[in-house]
Amino acid sequence: MSGPKSALYLRALLGDIAVASVQPSSRFLIRRVLDAMDLPSARVVIEYGAADGVITRRILPGLSPQAKFVAIERNADLCARLERLRDDRLIPVCGDVRQLDRILRGLGFSHADVIVSGVPFSLFRPRARHELLARTIGLLKPGGRFVAYQMTTHLIGLLGDYFSRVETEFEIRNIPPLFVSKAFK
Ligand SMILES: C[S@@+](CC[C@H](N)C(=O)[O-])C[C@H]1O[C@@H](n2cnc3c(N)ncnc32)[C@H](O)[C@@H]1O
Repeated sequence: MSGPKSALYLRALLGDIAVASVQPSSRFLIRRVLDAMDLPSARVVIEYGAADGVITRRILPGLSPQAKFVAIERNADLCARLERLRDDRLIPVCGDVRQLDRILRGLGFSHADVIVSGVPFSLFRPRARHELLARTIGLLKPGGRFVAYQMTTHLIGLLGDYFSRVETEFEIRNIPPLFVSKAFK
């Protein structure tokens, strides 16, 4: 993809290495992530690293009318775009997922059915990585799932420490190619 969307991501990346992407996810990557999520039965969905809403807006049509969807993005420029999405089920949050407890307490959420993540775990300190995974599994209901797309394999082993089952696929039709892991509580 080229054009204004790529320019937005590139500009954001140049000012903020944690953006960790030169362009939004491809339709192939998005399809793989959506297929891993099992959306129709979910009542509470959380997204880590929603950026401008490239996957967020594709999740919304698959959600039940009763569902709530908290999408969190740390980069201010990307989050300003995320906040433009209009849907009664969507709660966009400009914040850091490492402050997840505080964010969700403020919104009155204590559990989730599905959590999807594009945040670059490899750039977090080891302690922050473990804290986020511990919070993630703590939030999920039994049978709930965590779907994470990442550039490297480092998260896959860690997921095995927290989740009962982990399935990983590789999507080459994305820049960069990414691993998509689906982890079950
Ligand atoms: C690889 S990009 C994925 C963006 C988008 N969801 C997509 O599919 O193209 C990772 C996103 O996570 C955000 N991010 C990185 N660290 C974060 C953090 N600690 N809290 C919230 N968002 C974070 C980045 O700003 C970036 O928008």
